[in-house]
Amino acid sequence: MTSPALAATGVWKSYDGRADVLRDVSLAVRSEEAVLIWGANGSGKTTLLSILGGLDIPTRGSVLVGGREIARLKESELAKVRLHDVGFVFQTHNLIDDLTVEENVALPLRLARKPADPRVRDLLEAFDLVRLATRRPNEISVGEAQRVAVARALANGPKVILADEPTSALDAKGSAAVLAAFELAREDFHAAVVVASHEPALPGFAGTSYHLEEGTLGRRG
Ligand SMILES: Nc1ncnc2c1ncn2[C@@H]1O[C@H](COP(=O)(O)OP(=O)(O)O)[C@@H](O)[C@H]1O
Ligand SMILES: [Mg+2]
Repeated sequence: MTSPALAATGVWKSYDGRADVLRDVSLAVRSEEAVLIWGANGSGKTTLLSILGGLDIPTRGSVLVGGREIARLKESELAKVRLHDVGFVFQTHNLIDDLTVEENVALPLRLARKPADPRVRDLLEAFDLVRLATRRPNEISVGEAQRVAVARALANGPKVILADEPTSALDAKGSAAVLAAFELAREDFHAAVVVASHEPALPGFAGTSYHLEEGTLGRRG
């Protein structure tokens, strides 16, 4: 059997020696698999996704992306993994204010020194952003910014997509577009998709579902 695209084993996290935010979390996600992590506010979703994407380090435990232990990578290698292998949708969007919508979506390609890719235009169309392509983040709504953030995470065709509450600011149509894009990413470039949500179910999301409760992850029936 091939190794999972993403694997966490026995992950614990506490900040500055305070109470544990994550308690012995283990999770494996294969290529083309989709996983929903549902949990209340403060249950540890953002912390878990940050650790899975190599943006934060666990206090204990191991995280493998594409079979490589990210804690053992040099900073420059880790930066490459984050750029090429992981598409991260931040809860706070983290768009670059000085770039247009289109430039934000294309940013991973630019950073990877890849040529312009028709996928950028396809993503703008899929997320109904074409008419906003030349606007800047301060000239668009929160829901539009969320769609830009999702489009950017997909632009580089990453093997692993980590999306932190990616539909929280979207109406039914916007949510459906995001979930359809994740489906396409699974088929198109075999992505493993992890979505965190404070809602117990996302209409139209097909995948394995887990519940994160005060830092403990359990599979739902
Ligand atoms: N940088 C940090 N320093 C200290 N505590 C933090 C930090 N980030 C998150 N926490 C705490 O960890 C817990 C889980 O937070 P978070 O992962 O953001 O949960 P969620 O995304 O599910 O709302 C919360 O109690 C939060 O206050
Ligand atoms: Mg969060």
